[in-house]
Amino acid sequence: MNIKYLGHSAFEITTQGKKILVDPFLVCSPDYKCENIYDIFVSHAHGDHLGSAIEISKATGAPITTVYELANYCSEKGAKTIDMGLGSWREYSWGKVILVPAFHSSSTPDGIYGGCPCGFIFSIEDKIIYYAGDTSINSEMKIIGELYEPDIAMLPIGGKYTMDIEHAVKASVWLGATIIVPMHYNTFDAIKVEIQDFERQIREIGKIPVVLKIGESL
Ligand code: NI
Ligand code: MN
Repeated sequence: MNIKYLGHSAFEITTQGKKILVDPFLVCSPDYKCENIYDIFVSHAHGDHLGSAIEISKATGAPITTVYELANYCSEKGAKTIDMGLGSWREYSWGKVILVPAFHSSSTPDGIYGGCPCGFIFSIEDKIIYYAGDTSINSEMKIIGELYEPDIAMLPIGGKYTMDIEHAVKASVWLGATIIVPMHYNTFDAIKVEIQDFERQIREIGKIPVVLKIGESL
């Protein structure tokens, strides 16, 4: 499995030759080529997460998996969609996924209610990955740690709209994951952080910070 950072909260996960996009807001990776995309996941309707998902779905035929309201919005715009609620595993040809709550808001760039924002638990190969989406720290993270025992946690750290570094460090303890990948920081001024602070604090709790540059892979 390969996890490539495409900037902001966008990732490409490759497994068994199949590519999966998560929150494909690709302004930080303008040269990214959408090839071999099997599935697209969108955590909520804000423009910096919905990104180019609809266009990519139309161009590649890959369905967008997201919550019911946002899936309806995307399918009205011509995308292929898979709607899910928070709660149970769904099987894909490359693994399985469950939607978990995110504590945030969700409306489309044109102001339509996007349903409940979410995060994802991916079970791919022998790894469990928790992708938090945009969220504050919340007690669900303790339950996610207990139920799913994630190996890798992808957490927003930029503050203002989401967790900051201090809360992401606390969340990492609750989640129990060993590898912590930061996201949703330094894309614009309001979410600027000193990434060295994140790295130091994650090391101090005995975990591994994996700070990916744009285009870099884990
Ligand atoms: Ni958001
Ligand atoms: Mn956001």
